[in-house]
Amino acid sequence: MSLHEKMNRYLANQQVSYIKLHNLHWYVEGSSFFTLHPKLEELYDQTAEIIDEVAERLLAMGHKPVASFKEALAIATIKELDSKPISGKDTIDALAKDVDWWVKDTKEVIAAAEKEGDVVSADIFTGYLKEYEKLNWMIKAFLK
Ligand SMILES: [Fe+2]
Repeated sequence: MSLHEKMNRYLANQQVSYIKLHNLHWYVEGSSFFTLHPKLEELYDQTAEIIDEVAERLLAMGHKPVASFKEALAIATIKELDSKPISGKDTIDALAKDVDWWVKDTKEVIAAAEKEGDVVSADIFTGYLKEYEKLNWMIKAFLK
């Protein structure tokens, strides 16, 4: 898979994550509601910025960013959640799994960008990796 295909899959996964984070933001229940509800909002806002930046980077590279749910779901590897109440524990477990995936997927894009000598894309995704690794640490700390 070439760099731009990996970036489009990444974009599709971020689009799925955007609605998935809203799902958790709306449906989380229990004693950690007031902690998780605003944290999830912060994450979907961050995801919205990533979606826009990755799509515009693809355009700047001369490629077509995926821009419909139908197309995004066809290439995304991240799994959606049903629209139903979820406990704080299950919310954080789902989030921890996705963040592990985000870290792995971001590293893959960085490696592909470096291989193609695309320093700008490598730099953009390195910024995401920094944020995801920090989030990973915070989630692990929250789970202790
Ligand atoms: Fe909200």
